[in-house]
Amino acid sequence: MKLTLDRIRSRKARVGVIGLGYVGLPLAVEFAHAGFDVTGFDVDTAKTSQINAGKSYIPDVAEAQLAACVRAGTLKATIDMTELGAMDAIDICVPTPLRKTKDPDLSYVVRAVEAVAASLKPGQLIILESTTYPGTTDEVVQPMLEAKGLRADVDFLLAFSPERVDPGNRQFTTKNIPKIVGGVGPASTEAAAALYSQVVSDVVPVSSTRVAEMVKLLENTFRAVNIGLVNEIAQMCHTLDIDVWEVIEAAKTKPFGFMPFYPGPGLGGHCIPIDPFYLSWKARQSGFECRFIELAGHVNGSMPEYVVARVVDALNDSRKPVNGSRIHLYGVAYKRDVNDMRESPALDIIELLARRGAIISYSDPYVPALKEGTHSLEALAEAEALHRRPDCVVLCTDHSSFDWKALVNSGIPIVDTRNALRAFSAPNIVRLSGRVAPAPAPVVLSS
Ligand SMILES: NC(=O)c1ccc[n+]([C@@H]2O[C@H](COP(=O)([O-])OP(=O)(O)OC[C@H]3O[C@@H](n4cnc5c(N)ncnc54)[C@H](O)[C@@H]3O)[C@@H](O)[C@H]2O)c1
Repeated sequence: MKLTLDRIRSRKARVGVIGLGYVGLPLAVEFAHAGFDVTGFDVDTAKTSQINAGKSYIPDVAEAQLAACVRAGTLKATIDMTELGAMDAIDICVPTPLRKTKDPDLSYVVRAVEAVAASLKPGQLIILESTTYPGTTDEVVQPMLEAKGLRADVDFLLAFSPERVDPGNRQFTTKNIPKIVGGVGPASTEAAAALYSQVVSDVVPVSSTRVAEMVKLLENTFRAVNIGLVNEIAQMCHTLDIDVWEVIEAAKTKPFGFMPFYPGPGLGGHCIPIDPFYLSWKARQSGFECRFIELAGHVNGSMPEYVVARVVDALNDSRKPVNGSRIHLYGVAYKRDVNDMRESPALDIIELLARRGAIISYSDPYVPALKEGTHSLEALAEAEALHRRPDCVVLCTDHSSFDWKALVNSGIPIVDTRNALRAFSAPNIVRLSGRVAPAPAPVVLSS
């Protein structure tokens, strides 16, 4: 074990990263940039070839930095899992989705751990980073790795360290987000903390893998519940004809005891819509019911329907039905300035509108094409979309490159789910909450 620690501290350790997605690739580049000899492992050859060609497919990873690491020989990628045996430390960053039943799907973790177990060597440090329920590391991963007789914290090292990266966030990146580390024993915690402290400015050791797993789920449940609360407040404000955005802006002037969360079209991404259900599933195994998580999931899950209701209002003002109307989405990625479509609420909104007979199109500079159910769509340039004069625009994602002025000046009714048009005041803007549309002029019935 001392040898592993020495190799980590002198940056001579060979580091393997399994799963080169939004989490794994930035981490691999950070280790390589610090001088470690890094090998990235993935099952997707398109990803490994792009990395080996010095190309970045993750917006947060600067291509110049990645290419420099590849040229310097500190970073390479492979699909050959037999090379895992040559690593001193291995970070597992594979997906942890939900099954349709909202139960955890650990199959990716299990497959990655099987690959590690096949060539596990004494002294190796194995760290799970994928978000998962408390108990995964010691109940699932540890027995798999110990199956051939090596003991965790004695013969090899095993820890959990949750990834907290926030894609698209320029201020907080892998390097300056504090890293929580919990090992199955003190030697494992020490080694994992030593590894991360080479590349992360602040490492926070905790007493066990379960605490580390729970920290991540508390953080994401906190977000899901608070977003659920503010989404419900937005719907409430709509019925009370109060501008929810103005309320939040004023409330956040309180210097303590309040943290702003913002309403929107619904939850998206691989974390907030999924992670809390890992926790509620685990708690249910012990007979504990997580009411906040279920309620927040219900409110957040209802937002696409609520947005569609606002679209119906907007069309109604122009005396148009949804059926046959041309509805154009501005932005389909789940959040601003990213290309991530996972769990994006825009997909639900498209589905709900299409089911009612709407003809859908979209613009998104980050998503050139998308497939939702039976719909295959290609993005339109903004100018082309406005030129076609859709009956309504749904502003789903507030990408910073969008030309809001041109959109507002088009006069086309816009349902703004993000308050991106806060600087504008125009009759064609329908806010997510706050302005109940004035009643249209009465229809005169002829006798
Ligand atoms: N995306 C985020 O913002 C974020 C933030 C914090 C934590 N996380 C967590 O990190 C984990 C990874 O998320 P992500 O967003 O990077 O996922 P991702 O889908 O972007 O990347 C996962 C990668 O793992 C690869 N993979 C799957 N099975 C594999 C296997 N058996 N062996 C090797 N590679 C395999 C996939 O091909 C893919 O490239 C998840 O548990 C997620 O909850 C994600």
